[in-house]
Amino acid sequence: MRIDKVLANSGYGTRTQVKEFLRSGRVCVNGNIVRDPGFSVFDNDLENITLDGSPIRASSFLYFCLNKPDSCLTAMTDDRLPCVGDLIPPELQTKKISPVGRLDYHTTGVLLLTNDGELSHRLTSPKWHKEKIYLVTYEGEELTEEDVLAFSKGLTLMEPGHAVEKLKPAKLELLHKNQCRLILTEGKTHQVKRMLASRNRQVVALHREQMGSLTLHEGQQPGEMYALSDEDIRKLKED
Ligand code: URA
Repeated sequence: MRIDKVLANSGYGTRTQVKEFLRSGRVCVNGNIVRDPGFSVFDNDLENITLDGSPIRASSFLYFCLNKPDSCLTAMTDDRLPCVGDLIPPELQTKKISPVGRLDYHTTGVLLLTNDGELSHRLTSPKWHKEKIYLVTYEGEELTEEDVLAFSKGLTLMEPGHAVEKLKPAKLELLHKNQCRLILTEGKTHQVKRMLASRNRQVVALHREQMGSLTLHEGQQPGEMYALSDEDIRKLKED
């Protein structure tokens, strides 16, 4: 495979970015600087590729953290509406990357994208108890310590037409007027909106700040994604 493809597919940048790395002499294969983006590498070369002197992780699995923008479906394709798939660079379009779990159309923030099916399965399983942290802006009376207590005991959702649902204890932090932070250890459909609705508040903006160990990078704009480092991946797998 071409060296520029190996680097791009392993999450080290777009094809254009990795061509730049190559041209500036930052990449070595078997100890020799390689500047030609079309240079062929074979399976037994993969362990001997370095970028700025550090071995690269040449993997067929890719992991990205997207800052999901507002008005964007958590889907790879859609005929009508903007979706997460539109934000994936062309060189990654064939890599079978997909979102782990789902954020609503208007929810913004941390969304993991990967083609590692096993990890994706694990992180979306009800057995995955790591924290998901949401910043919530709501309408209605200001939440009180009474709500904090009710959330900490585990709400029971009793929605007309739905089975009664007992939720796990959740941590509610009261912030400025009409904003709160909600820390959940489960991920039921529209959970935050339903929890607030059960206390007669309506969510008007929702942003996921954290999912397990995964957070946005400082200054990461909506629509931007970064490739997880080895350390990020290790932590996420440990979570
Ligand atoms: N809870 C919601 O209600 N919506 C989301 O997008 C995520 C959690």
